[in-house]
Amino acid sequence: MLIKKPDPIKSSEITDRAVWQDRRRLIKAAAAAGVGLVAERAGALASRPGQGQAISGVVDTDYGRGLALTDFQDATSYNNFYEFGTAKSDPARHAHSLQTRPWTVRVDGECDKPGEIGIEDILKDFTQEERIYRFRCVEAWAMTVPWVGFPLGDLLKRFQPNSRANFVAFETLFDPQQMPGQQRGVLDWPYREGLRMDEAMHPLTLLATGLYGEVLPNQNGAPLRLVVPLKYGFKSIKSIVGIRFVRDIPETTWWKLAPREYGFYANVNPQVDHPRWSQKRHRVLGAGLFAAKQPTQLFNGYAEQVAGLYRGMDLSRFY
Ligand code: MTE
Repeated sequence: MLIKKPDPIKSSEITDRAVWQDRRRLIKAAAAAGVGLVAERAGALASRPGQGQAISGVVDTDYGRGLALTDFQDATSYNNFYEFGTAKSDPARHAHSLQTRPWTVRVDGECDKPGEIGIEDILKDFTQEERIYRFRCVEAWAMTVPWVGFPLGDLLKRFQPNSRANFVAFETLFDPQQMPGQQRGVLDWPYREGLRMDEAMHPLTLLATGLYGEVLPNQNGAPLRLVVPLKYGFKSIKSIVGIRFVRDIPETTWWKLAPREYGFYANVNPQVDHPRWSQKRHRVLGAGLFAAKQPTQLFNGYAEQVAGLYRGMDLSRFY
């Protein structure tokens, strides 16, 4: 199939909205215990800037406390979600056509307990177990968002991946009626992403169900999306319906489309430039066009926690 290549996504757009002042503190807090430390039950979070549906039973954590947050309006109106158009303003304008209930996620492949789980059950179970957290988290496309969700590994474990599960592959819903962008061949639909198993089980790898204390707006990937803060933004696949444990490295959307430009690993790395632009500095969303660009950090600043995953790998080859 001939795929029409969309306008190149600049790495400053699919990548590093990252800027943060209190990096050390975040790293220490998260490294100390994954994510659950200094948790306090916050109930429905007080600050809900968009006045969407509140998420109750959220456990607040110290994770990223003190970070300067991106404005809610920016985080929910400047998006990439090609299923609703290729302009940054398209998802907020068009994603209301997506029905997020009922919503089922199928988990299968190399595991002992394949199955399906509904979003309501995920939310019920994790809320009951007090394992829906708030993470103030830098996303690698220049925004810092208080995500609401849980480590991906907490869900994956339930399906008991076996020893042949080397990678995890993710798929977005394919429904051109609800997602009109899929009627055009700009990408090879459905959108697909993947992680190595150890990346998927790392506590920094999150599944988000909300942001700013509210249920995820559709344009941000409702009802369930990945958030991988150490990686460029395109890894954080939205509106997930399929998760598969696989032996071999899975084909992923941007990597398949333009392998020289977008690698499978996609770790934020100022030393590895995109073929057409430098990755050394980045703009911050909301800072204005004239604000100085910020230096980009290896692994988006999470090196202390994640560098071990890539020890011995040539990161310029496995970009
Ligand atoms: N997931 C799907 N299904 N479709 C997409 O087009 N875009 C990716 C990622 N996940 C995308 C997707 C890209 S390029 C980025 S930068 C982030 O979503 C943007 O997330 P945000 O809009 O919540 O900031």
